[in-house]
Amino acid sequence: MMEKMLDLPLRDVLHRMQASIMQPSTYRGVPALKSPTDAWVYDELIHELRPDVIVEVGVNCGGGTLRLADMCRAVGHGKVVGVDISLAKVPALVRDDPSITLIEGPALDVFDEVRWHTNGANVLVIEDSAHDFFHTLRVLHLYSTLVHVGGYLICEDSICHHGLDHGPKPGPYEAIETFLQENQSFVADRSRERFLVTWNPNGYLKRVN
Ligand SMILES: C[S@@+](CC[C@H](N)C(=O)[O-])C[C@H]1O[C@@H](n2cnc3c(N)ncnc32)[C@H](O)[C@@H]1O
Repeated sequence: MMEKMLDLPLRDVLHRMQASIMQPSTYRGVPALKSPTDAWVYDELIHELRPDVIVEVGVNCGGGTLRLADMCRAVGHGKVVGVDISLAKVPALVRDDPSITLIEGPALDVFDEVRWHTNGANVLVIEDSAHDFFHTLRVLHLYSTLVHVGGYLICEDSICHHGLDHGPKPGPYEAIETFLQENQSFVADRSRERFLVTWNPNGYLKRVN
């Protein structure tokens, strides 16, 4: 337990946390693959930005999606559009939530449908789908067009090979670096990483112009 492990290197802490998150953790009984430190930051962003629509690319079982919808209800504004190549694992609790719209298909192919649901609104985008470099980069370019100035595009799991010896290489971290070189409208807002521990290092991307 923690008090017996105070000299553990951060790298080992991250690996232990990853194992416990992937066990998996749940939200209202639905598996949610999310670091609690990042979930808290999402809560703060939703409260601060009051997005009309949150687009989550990569739903898995939908625990994270349900949590986003609950936070929208808590602030009294917003709905969630979830995209996944397969929705087979999503339970009725998530499917039947009136604040959640689910779209099944490859993220790059269903973008027009997603955009139709956002209808020019103030959108918060969370990319958490396939984490290979080229897919992530293409998702960032395509879905970033939904984000208004002042809004955020979050790219998850940039911890791959930048904290965890795990995942695609190159992966999300390198896709973010390339995206930021190619798109001057976004900057990494590192103040969103104040807990130090994040699965999204350099991944809180704010649209500045
Ligand atoms: C890491 S999980 C998402 C976890 C979820 N956001 C959460 O917080 O629990 C990644 C998901 O991305 C989906 N996925 C993989 N490739 C995809 C693609 N090309 N388009 C859309 N979804 C994809 C997988 O089916 C999987 O459910």
